[in-house]
Amino acid sequence: MALYSDKVMDHFRNPRNVGSIENADGVGEVGNPVCGDIMKIYLKINDQKIIEDVKFETFGCGSAIASSSMATELIKGKPVQEALQLTNKAVTEALDGLPAHKIHCSVLAEEAIKKAVKDYYDKNGIIYDADLFPDDEDCAHCEAHCGR
Ligand code: FES
Repeated sequence: MALYSDKVMDHFRNPRNVGSIENADGVGEVGNPVCGDIMKIYLKINDQKIIEDVKFETFGCGSAIASSSMATELIKGKPVQEALQLTNKAVTEALDGLPAHKIHCSVLAEEAIKKAVKDYYDKNGIIYDADLFPDDEDCAHCEAHCGR
């Protein structure tokens, strides 16, 4: 069996929603201190709290790029609340799996989206439950597991 699924290869070769959004309503950047990979997510959110547009910039491995691409596809057009529920497991499943040593790359996508939503909440004075967001600035999962 191939190491990477067709979906991973497709999103790696033709990533969706690449780029940045000027005057984004929320921006989230996370980095993996071990491998040095960085992921940045930009959100455009309308008055109904729907994610109208989302873009990403990822300086990282193929799995991180495929994960960001898939994650942006999964949250585009969705309510902010729903984007917060997105787990790296859901991203990995939507990609038809990632090799075990690459699962941590999908965690970057989950964390970057959460951080962008938190930025949106903070900028707009929206009250939220702090437990929804990880304490750590960097991705603890990645720190522990990045073996690149
Ligand atoms: Fe660092 Fe994939 S995110 S190796």
